[in-house]
Amino acid sequence: MQKIAVVTGANRGIGFEICRQLAHLGIKVILTARNEEKGRIAAEKLRDDGLDVVFHSLDVTNEGSIRSLAEWIEETFGRLDILINNAGILLDRGYTTLQVDIDKVRETMETNVYGPLRLCKALVPIMLKNDFGRIVNVSSGAGAFSKMRTGQPGYSISKTAINALTKLLANELAGTNVTVNSMAPGPVLTDMNPNGKRSVEEGADTAVWLATEITETGKFFGDRTEIEW
Ligand SMILES: NC(=O)c1ccc[n+]([C@@H]2O[C@H](COP(=O)([O-])OP(=O)(O)OC[C@H]3O[C@@H](n4cnc5c(N)ncnc54)[C@H](OP(=O)(O)O)[C@@H]3O)[C@@H](O)[C@H]2O)c1
Repeated sequence: MQKIAVVTGANRGIGFEICRQLAHLGIKVILTARNEEKGRIAAEKLRDDGLDVVFHSLDVTNEGSIRSLAEWIEETFGRLDILINNAGILLDRGYTTLQVDIDKVRETMETNVYGPLRLCKALVPIMLKNDFGRIVNVSSGAGAFSKMRTGQPGYSISKTAINALTKLLANELAGTNVTVNSMAPGPVLTDMNPNGKRSVEEGADTAVWLATEITETGKFFGDRTEIEW
C-alpha cells in the first residue's frame, strides 16, 4: 500500500526538498505550509515533475489548523505513515542569553516545540490505528548539549526541547511500530541560513532515510549516523 507522509513548513528550504525526495520514493506527500499561495505553488512544482504531492494548509502554531489537517487526513486516507516536523524559525541569531528578548524565545518555542508536540498529539492516534508510523523531528546541532555554545539562545533551547520531545514520545511508544527520532541537517543554505555550506539535498537526506529505512527509535542522527544529544 502506498505510504502517506505529512511534511510541515514545506513551501521552501529543507522541507520542500524532503517532500521531493519522499515523493521520488513513491510516497504520497501532503506538502503543508502556512501560506496557502506559496504552498500551492510549491506542490504544483513537484506535481509538474510527475510526483504525487498534494497541498494542505497548516500553521503549526494554530490548534484549529492542526485539527482540520488531522480530520482531512482521517476522512481522505484513513491512515498516516510519516510525519516530518520540519517547520522552524530562528529569531535570535547573534543574541546572548542575557540579551535575548523573552517574547522571541516564546514565539520560537510555539513554532519549534509546541507545534511538533501539537502535531504528534493530533496525528499519532491515526498512526496507531494501523500500528505504523515514522516521526522525524528536524532538530539542529544547536540543540545538542554536546555542542552547545553561545548565540541564538531561544533557538538552541527550542531544539534541545524538541530532542526531549523525541525521547519522551519514543519511550511512550515503545512496543508499538511508531518510531520517533531527531535529526540535524547541518548548516544548509536556505533562507534561514544564508551562510550554510550544504545543499538542501544533503540537508534532507537523513530525514528521508529515517522516515523510510530505519526501525530504531529515540535517537539523534546526522548524516545517517547516530550523534550525541
Ligand atoms: N538551514 C540550516 O542550516 C538548518 C540547520 C539546522 C536545522 N535546521 C532546521 O531545518 C528546518 C527547516 O529549516 P530551513 O533551513 O529549510 O528554513 P527556511 O527556509 O526558513 O524554512 C522554514 C519553513 O518553516 C515554515 N514555517 C515557519 N513557521 C511556520 C508555522 N508557524 N507553520 C508552518 N510553517 C512554518 C516557513 O514558512 P514561511 O515560508 O511561511 O515562513 C518555511 O517553509 C527548521 O526546523 C530548522 O530549524 C536548519
